[in-house]
Amino acid sequence: GKDGYRHYMLKEIYEQPQVIGDTVNSYINPETSRITMPDLPFDLARASRLTIVACGTAFYAGLVAKYWFETLARLPVEIDIASEFRYREAPMPENGVALFISQSGETLDTLEALRYCKRQGQRILSVVNAPESTIARESDAVLYTMAGPEIGVASTKAFTTQLTTLACLAAQVAHARGAIDDERLMSVARSLREVPARAAEVLAHDERLKDLAAEVSEARDVLYLGRGAMYPLAMEGALKLKEISYIHAEGYAAGELKHGPIALIDDAVPVIVLVPSDNLFEKVVSNVQEVCARSGKVLLIADRKGIDRLSDRVRWSVELPACDPIVAPILYAIPVQLLAYHTAVLKGTDVDQPRNLAKSVTVE
Ligand code: F6R
Repeated sequence: GKDGYRHYMLKEIYEQPQVIGDTVNSYINPETSRITMPDLPFDLARASRLTIVACGTAFYAGLVAKYWFETLARLPVEIDIASEFRYREAPMPENGVALFISQSGETLDTLEALRYCKRQGQRILSVVNAPESTIARESDAVLYTMAGPEIGVASTKAFTTQLTTLACLAAQVAHARGAIDDERLMSVARSLREVPARAAEVLAHDERLKDLAAEVSEARDVLYLGRGAMYPLAMEGALKLKEISYIHAEGYAAGELKHGPIALIDDAVPVIVLVPSDNLFEKVVSNVQEVCARSGKVLLIADRKGIDRLSDRVRWSVELPACDPIVAPILYAIPVQLLAYHTAVLKGTDVDQPRNLAKSVTVE
C-alpha cells in the first residue's frame, strides 16, 4: 500500500534514503568502506569502449554515468537512446562492453538493442531493478538496484539507485584503470555512504518545494538548466514535469542557451537552474546572469555557496547540502522530483497513472 502517503510517487520519493542505503550497502562494505562490485565475467576496466543504451529516465542515468566513466575512469563511452541505437546498425568496437539500464528489465527497445550488441560481439552488462526480467536474463552480468518495486509510473527511486550503482561501478573501474588512487577511491566511497543521510536532509525541503510548485504550476513553459552531470538532471527534471503535470518543459545544457533557447526567456518562463559547487560553477553563474538580464524568473537549486553568490539576482532558491560533485546528481534528483510531484498535485492530474503512459513499455 501507500503507507499513508497520498500517492505511490510520494512514498517512493521518501523511500530514497532507505533504498539508496540498501544499494550502497550491497556494493560498499560498511566496515571497510571498500567498493566491492560482484566479479564480472569480463574485464570492464580493460574494455576498449563502453556503449550505454537505455530509454527515458534510465537513459538520463546513463548520461550521468558517461560523465563519471569518462572523467573519473578515463574510459570512452558511447551512449544513445535505445529506439535510435537499435536501428542504426552502429559499428561496434573489438573488446567492447555494452551496458543496458532498465528499471523494469522489459523495455522492448532496450532489449532489442542488447540483442544487437550481443550479435556484434559485445559483452553485455545490465543495471536492472526487476529481478528475473528478460534484460537481466539475457545479460552476461547484472548489477541489481535495490529500489524494490516501483509502482508510480514516473520513475524516482529507480533513478537514484541506478545512479548509486553506476557511481560505485565507475569508481571501481577508475581505480582498476589507475585513473584514481586509493585515497580518492576511499573518498568517493565515503561520499556515497553519506548519501542516504544527505538525501534525508534534502527531503526536509519538501514544504519549500511545495510553495515553489505553486509558481511552477502557473507556467505554460519551464526551462531546466545544468552543466556537466547536471545537464542530464535538467532533462530528467523536464521529463518529470512533462509526464505528470503536463506542463511543457525542456532541459538544456546551460552553455547551449545562447544558441537558441534564450529567445524563449521572459518573465513568464520559470528557469530552474541546478548548480552544485563543482568545476563548472562559475560557467553556470554567468549563464544565470544572462537569464536574469532578460528578466527570466530563476529558481536556483544550489548549495550555500551558490545561493550566496546569486541571491541578489534570482527570484527563488532551495539550499541543498554541499557535497562531493560525484554524488550531486543523486541528491539533486530529489528536489526535481518533488517539484514535479507538487506541481502535478496542484494541477489535479493523476500522478501515479499519467495519461497515455505505461509503467513498462513492451511495444515498439
Ligand atoms: C520516466 C519513466 C520512463 C522510463 C523508461 C524506461 O519517469 O519512468 O522514461 O524510465 O520508460 O523504462 P525502464 O527503466 O523500465 O526500461
